[in-house]
Order: sequence, then C-alpha cells, then structure tokens
Amino acid sequence: MTVFIVNGQKVDVDLDPRESLLDVLHTRLQLFGTKKGCDHGQCGACTVHLDGRRVVSCLTMAVQADGREVRTIEDVAAEDGTLHPLQEAFIDNDGMQCGYCTPGQIMSGLACIAEGHTGDDDEIREYMSGNLCRCGAYVGIVAAIRQAAGQTATERMATERTATEQTASEQTGA
Ligand code: FES
Ligand code: FES
Repeated sequence: MTVFIVNGQKVDVDLDPRESLLDVLHTRLQLFGTKKGCDHGQCGACTVHLDGRRVVSCLTMAVQADGREVRTIEDVAAEDGTLHPLQEAFIDNDGMQCGYCTPGQIMSGLACIAEGHTGDDDEIREYMSGNLCRCGAYVGIVAAIRQAAGQTATERMATERTATEQTASEQTGA
C-alpha cells in the first residue's frame, strides 16, 4: 500500500511498482490536467511537483511518492477559481496556443520562480528548456514568467516592509 498526499488530499492506493506517477494521476485519481506528451522524459508536459521540486511524472514511479507530497496543476488556482498570478501572466502574454504543454509550463514556471532562476530571460529560458512547446509560444512563456516573478518580488518586498514597520512601531511603542 502506498500513501501520499496529492494536492492536500491523502491518497491510499495499492500500486503496481511499475506504474508511473503520471499514469496513477490519470487512471486512479482522474486528475487529467497533467498531460502526457512523449512518456519518455523529453517534453515536460507531465511536470508536477514532488515535495516542492519539479519532476517529470512519466519517469517518476508512483511508489516513489510514498510518504511525500505531490502538487499538480489542479492545485494552482485558488479554490474559488481565482487564477494564480502566473496563470494570469500566461494569459496576459499569450503564453499558449493549443494549451497542451501549458500545465507543464506552469508547474516548471512556478519552480523557476520559487528557486530564483529569473535573473534574466536567458536564465529563465535555460531553466525552462526541458518544457517543449510545439506551438512555439516560447516568447510569451518567458515573458509570463518574468511578469509573475516581478509580482512575486514586489509582494515579497511589500511584506518585508510591513513586517519591518510593525517591528519598529512595536519597539518605539508608537
Ligand atoms: Fe513526461 Fe514528456 S510526457 S516528459
Ligand atoms: Fe501548444 Fe505549447 S501551446 S504545445
């Protein structure tokens, strides 16, 4: 029996050790947002997060997720349907055409931002090089990640400023 967390929900399944995480997401959990492109680790369409790190789920055996946390594209937007800033940025920048690669691009893009690989467009392109887009929407994808990374940095600075101001006012008793 393999027990893991998928998008915050505990999953308890009796697995064949040969089943990929991608196939389990599709066939056992009916989570079809994660796409199957090559099924050989070459296109990035199946990218998900495992304990916060991106992985290609077609090359990850589902048993490897035992005791760990999986996050898929279904968990990116808020429960009320509000899109994540990176999803909004993909729309703003035409970061998709057919959309088939987009879930994988979004999951890699989130990791790109979280891991701080957004210094310039070349760094973003390098990090995202494992995610192929047969429609060639690369310019929009890079622009979307740049936009969302900028928002994240601005929000982080605002949060830090507020925390600093609160500490200062507590210390002065103001
Ligand atoms: Fe997994 Fe292509 S389907 S990398
Ligand atoms: Fe069509 Fe990327 S938007 S494959």
